[in-house]
Amino acid sequence: MKFFIDTANLDQIREANALGILDGVTTNPSLMAKEGIKGNEAVLQHYRNICEIVEGDISAEVLGTDFNTIIEEGKVLAALHPNIVVKVPMIKDGVKAIKWFTDNGIKTNCTLIFSAGQAILAAKAGATYVSPFIGRIDDSGWDGMQLISQISSIYAVQGFKSQILAASIRNANHIIDCAEAGAHVITSPLDPILGLLKHPLTDIGLAKFLEDAKKM
Ligand code: G3P
Repeated sequence: MKFFIDTANLDQIREANALGILDGVTTNPSLMAKEGIKGNEAVLQHYRNICEIVEGDISAEVLGTDFNTIIEEGKVLAALHPNIVVKVPMIKDGVKAIKWFTDNGIKTNCTLIFSAGQAILAAKAGATYVSPFIGRIDDSGWDGMQLISQISSIYAVQGFKSQILAASIRNANHIIDCAEAGAHVITSPLDPILGLLKHPLTDIGLAKFLEDAKKM
């Protein structure tokens, strides 16, 4: 399973990258706004900066909602760096655009997936990545992990090539459950990734080893 970090914060991207386990980055307009990135040129430069830090797929989201605008924006984003993946929302014109990008050799991430039907459509259009938002599904009283399992089964039965990119990760258990449920990729904020490190018995065991090492 690939690990992407879900942030536009360059320090956190550097910290995750330094662990040596990072395979890519996802961003969205909310995450860019949170970092104070304003204006088209600043946004494009920020994507370039991220591409300089991480060797892996970097999702950059279009803001248009009609086919022609999505295509024009996606072409600009894809030209920034060979590792850019154009992130397109799950809407009718988005599906058409994903098919166009697929036919023209541009990688895509279909975002805002909340149902198996949407995941099937995105895969039919040839999306490289399909992003179910598990945390937001859980927040709505549904079961995000059940959706990951369902999409995983459907893609396996049907032989779809799209990779399931589990997004809206809220804690370390989400990452573990995604690995079990067959997600190809998780994209997570830094804290849940670092949460995988933690176990109290590791801390107690290490303290004891270090204490005993003084007697060696
Ligand atoms: O990549 C999508 C993800 O950022 C959404 O996460 O926490 O806003 O639901 P969240």
